[in-house]
Amino acid sequence: MSKKMKVATINHYKQTNLKIQSIQKPTPASNDVLVKIMTTSINPIDTKIMAGDLKLLLNYQMPLILGNDFAGEIVAIGKNVKTYKVGDSVYGRPQKQRIGTFAEYLSVSKDDIALMPKNLNYQEAAAIPLVALTSYQALHDLIKLKPNQKVLIQAGSGGVGTIAIQIAKQLGAYVATTTSPKNFELVKSLGVDEIIDYHSQNFEDVLNDYDAVFDTIGGETLKKSFKIVKPGGQIVSVSGLPNADFATNYGLSYWKKLLLKFLTRDLTKLEKQNNIKYNFLFMKPSGSELSTITKMIENKKVRPIIDRTFEFKDINKALTYSRSGHAKGKIIISIND
Ligand SMILES: NC(=O)c1ccc[n+]([C@@H]2O[C@H](COP(=O)([O-])OP(=O)(O)OC[C@H]3O[C@@H](n4cnc5c(N)ncnc54)[C@H](OP(=O)(O)O)[C@@H]3O)[C@@H](O)[C@H]2O)c1
Repeated sequence: MSKKMKVATINHYKQTNLKIQSIQKPTPASNDVLVKIMTTSINPIDTKIMAGDLKLLLNYQMPLILGNDFAGEIVAIGKNVKTYKVGDSVYGRPQKQRIGTFAEYLSVSKDDIALMPKNLNYQEAAAIPLVALTSYQALHDLIKLKPNQKVLIQAGSGGVGTIAIQIAKQLGAYVATTTSPKNFELVKSLGVDEIIDYHSQNFEDVLNDYDAVFDTIGGETLKKSFKIVKPGGQIVSVSGLPNADFATNYGLSYWKKLLLKFLTRDLTKLEKQNNIKYNFLFMKPSGSELSTITKMIENKKVRPIIDRTFEFKDINKALTYSRSGHAKGKIIISIND
């Protein structure tokens, strides 16, 4: 077996294309498994990291292997790993300081992976970890969505939105979403109760008395969310600015916390004026939460939505497509599959 593997890397921030090169294959540390990556998927975080947009939260050493999702087969295990064996099909989202799934192999902690749902193939499985964990952590862990509560999920046709709708329905909520007419059938098939065409309607004019908003857009759209949530309700954003509370919990320096407090002063004012809690979520890898999601998929409550699949050699075309901001579900990269 070759000791080398192909990886897609950047050498510096603001590099627009990934470079595919050959490097030494990793060996798994004591608590790691070595995965032969069959498939990976693109997330907007990949292009944001490349552009240097996340340097406040994540600062990487260069050269950096990109990629935040994988599905594959375990080919070796570290000496402390008892829960997985060679030959298992697993999927996951590695820790933020250990990304690098645009590669033929990845050494990843046993705590950040789960067995793949038995009813998914590798292409379908790579569509799940990052967006499903994000949606679960927003709707279940932070909002604590209850049956019959009303939630707006922004951008229901996106990678996050398509899974978030299904998880919110699974939690028993009444779900509204924003999207374009070309995606109406898709979001209806996911169980959504109310659709807003964001090109011709303002969601803040149509919806009111909502318990929560899951915002995937940020900016002015996030601020308008305060108009539709009732007092005591919640707004969780994965695309807005992190606030001072997040900075404290994430362990950012005093100066970064002060900067974020200043930059989010409008949101803090809206929180106080309307008695609505705003949280920024930066999703966390979790093998145990991913196992919960595996069960939802095996029980046919959640299914992946795939827009298109690219070969590894065409990864830059996949990134260009992701940057368009109009993918319908997930963009998959086939590596060893
Ligand atoms: N903080 C975190 O932990 C975290 C985790 C995951 C994702 N995120 C962020 O969440 C955002 C969404 O991620 P994603 O993977 O879902 O992105 P994505 O798949 O690239 O989103 C594309 C979708 O967004 C829709 N869209 C674009 N503008 C819209 C608008 N104004 N209103 C309604 N829908 C709109 C598009 O539909 P049309 O074609 O109809 O326009 C398209 O289907 C990204 O910014 C990402 O970085 C953050």
